[in-house]
Amino acid sequence: MKHPFLHGAHNAGRFQDQSVVDRYHLRPAYPPETFTILNELIVDEPRAVLDVGCGTGNVARPLTEYVEHIDAVDLSLPMLERARTLLGGYSPKVRWLHGRAEDVELEPPYALVTAGESLHWMEWDVVLPRFAQLLMPHGVLAIVHIVDQPVPWREGYCQIEQRFTNNPSYVPFDWIVELEKYVLFQKLGERETASVEVSQTVEDYIAAKHARSILSLDTMTTEQATQFDTEMQALLLPYALDGLLTFSVVGGITWGNEVRPPLEQAGRPLQRWKATFLASSNSRDPLSHFVVVEFTTIGHERPLLEANSCWSISPRFVHILAQG
Ligand SMILES: C[S@@+](CC[C@H](N)C(=O)[O-])C[C@H]1O[C@@H](n2cnc3c(N)ncnc32)[C@H](O)[C@@H]1O
Repeated sequence: MKHPFLHGAHNAGRFQDQSVVDRYHLRPAYPPETFTILNELIVDEPRAVLDVGCGTGNVARPLTEYVEHIDAVDLSLPMLERARTLLGGYSPKVRWLHGRAEDVELEPPYALVTAGESLHWMEWDVVLPRFAQLLMPHGVLAIVHIVDQPVPWREGYCQIEQRFTNNPSYVPFDWIVELEKYVLFQKLGERETASVEVSQTVEDYIAAKHARSILSLDTMTTEQATQFDTEMQALLLPYALDGLLTFSVVGGITWGNEVRPPLEQAGRPLQRWKATFLASSNSRDPLSHFVVVEFTTIGHERPLLEANSCWSISPRFVHILAQG
């Protein structure tokens, strides 16, 4: 299944650019409260975590303080090499794994899976079912990100970005809404950290923009890079005090699970079924009445849903069941 918003492997490859890796530490760090929230999401033991798309370890390294073990996975070797050299990166609790979250060899089970600004690069149809299989009974997937905060230079920045981006078709989107739309994720909760005030030199703030895949210096000519930096300086200097920009950083954590079919037999979800339903009430109702026309389960003698029986279930579950 193709999702219109996913960035794809080609753009994810930009995180192998040395110019991106060298500037990645200038991107805003997650506020420390992010990790106390993640800690509270761990229920099962042993407290082992899988961090996917770990990059230089902005999630994995601070989490080492709270857990027994972390497997941190990234497809960019240069990002992993940098991660090992940073604070907490040499902790014996972390195992840095080079590979794709979709198929890298792992040692489950995990009490928590974390994805810091990385899930949108992955094949959702592959990774979401995979994470569900890797998790312990109370385990969840936590999607971690920096929550966009208003800054007075935002409008000006967007205009500059649009002229220099290497991916002009990219449209920012709400990942959670998209994941739920494709019935791949069921949100169980979300929290934001308190806002933390950060000061950064104008030069570092601009350099941090080149740590984004869409503004990698490896995709710009020297002239373009100089032009970008000059325009950014002109935009930002009026807001700087003694060369420093001050802005707020807020961490966002949304957690949940892969949506699983609601039908189970002997505690095990049905693996294969074929169903036809007839909607008998307004399908915009959150709970609609569906009449079973046909329901067969491969490997089961008797259909679990009788023909002509009527069920009150969410239309989105009917959608999953009907996929078989
Ligand atoms: C924006 S960085 C986020 C890094 C870190 N989690 C953070 O929060 O700062 C996205 C990372 O995802 C990695 N990535 C992209 N697709 C991946 C995949 N399919 N499997 C593993 N890592 C992937 C990239 O190499 C990159 O390091």
